[in-house]
Amino acid sequence: MKFMNTQVWQINKDNIDSTLISKAGQILKDGGLVAFPTETVYGLGGDALNKEASAKIYGAKGRPSDNPLIVHIASLEDMKKITMDVPEAAIALANAFWPGPLTMIFQKTELVPMETTGGLNTVAVRMPRDEVALALIAAAGGYVAAPSANTSGRPSPTKAIHVKEDLDGKIPLILDSGSAIIGLESTIVDMTGEVPTILRPGYITKEMMEQVIGKVEIDRGIVADNSDVKPKAPGMKYRHYAPKAAMTIVDGEKEAVIAKINGLVTEAKANGQKAAVLAAEESIARYHAHVVKSLGSRENELEIAANLYDALREFDHLEVDVIYSESFATEQLGQAIMNRLKKAAGQRVIEV
Ligand code: TXA
Ligand code: MG
Repeated sequence: MKFMNTQVWQINKDNIDSTLISKAGQILKDGGLVAFPTETVYGLGGDALNKEASAKIYGAKGRPSDNPLIVHIASLEDMKKITMDVPEAAIALANAFWPGPLTMIFQKTELVPMETTGGLNTVAVRMPRDEVALALIAAAGGYVAAPSANTSGRPSPTKAIHVKEDLDGKIPLILDSGSAIIGLESTIVDMTGEVPTILRPGYITKEMMEQVIGKVEIDRGIVADNSDVKPKAPGMKYRHYAPKAAMTIVDGEKEAVIAKINGLVTEAKANGQKAAVLAAEESIARYHAHVVKSLGSRENELEIAANLYDALREFDHLEVDVIYSESFATEQLGQAIMNRLKKAAGQRVIEV
């Protein structure tokens, strides 16, 4: 891949510079890549209907080519050209949650190249809420394929600087409009079966969808802790969202968790390792590791979600050897938080 000079353009969300957005849209129309903000994480965009652009996305991320991309749209009307057999429940979900952090999977039309869908006959579609994202998608002609803008396997980017860390020199442009407000990737729901099925938990929960359309299932491949069941979203099978250091989650009653983590830290120190702890604000003062990071208060799951990936990336900068993390509630948004945290830990969980 040839080295490019990566530009970063600041875009003010409250006063979007339409000249810059048109220029960025033109790069996409010409088959180039542009990283851009969304409310979940930063995306690495390319024209979804151009197979060369999709190939470039896989190349820049170092992503396995069987892992399909999400197609981002800016109007519900535009979905018709790329999807077939859209059930009424999907329209109800779109009306309730779009624009927003929900991705739905449908049968695709011929217009969507197999390079975009990783060889599948289905396509994942999302209409993001972020105004900069919506403006860019419209300027690009309506269909922007975008995975998270990280190198494959690393934590997803919630800030433009994270994108730069991973993709500097590999893409021509990053649009920077500050931190992503949600900080975890969208909920993915498969609408092609009898019962809508969640393939990746996110901000839009099962309960929120059930209030709109009735029964929703969760893919067994993502709930079962140590199962042989393969997740249906190809991307969910990879070790992911991971810092470089080995991470272990300690789960149980608060005092027991603190005692166990401090014991592990003492052991690590004795072995000459630099140890880090990831904890809730309420308990950070209790740890004696080299590095102790707070994800925010347990009272505020939104804050914990928004801080998670940034904290994981910071451990890389601090060059820690091992990380011990508290576990977080698995209700509602906590499900998505724990799903990402467990992946980052390669599913290593110690129960105390
Ligand atoms: O919040 C998000 O969804 C972000 C922002 C940029 O919009 N995008 C994102 O994309 O997280 P990515 O590529 O990092 O994750 C997409 C996931 C992968 O796990 C992939 O396997 C799954 O969606 N996926 C995409 N198309 C699919 C399909 N047709 N069937 C099943 N899974 C699919
Ligand atoms: Mg990703």
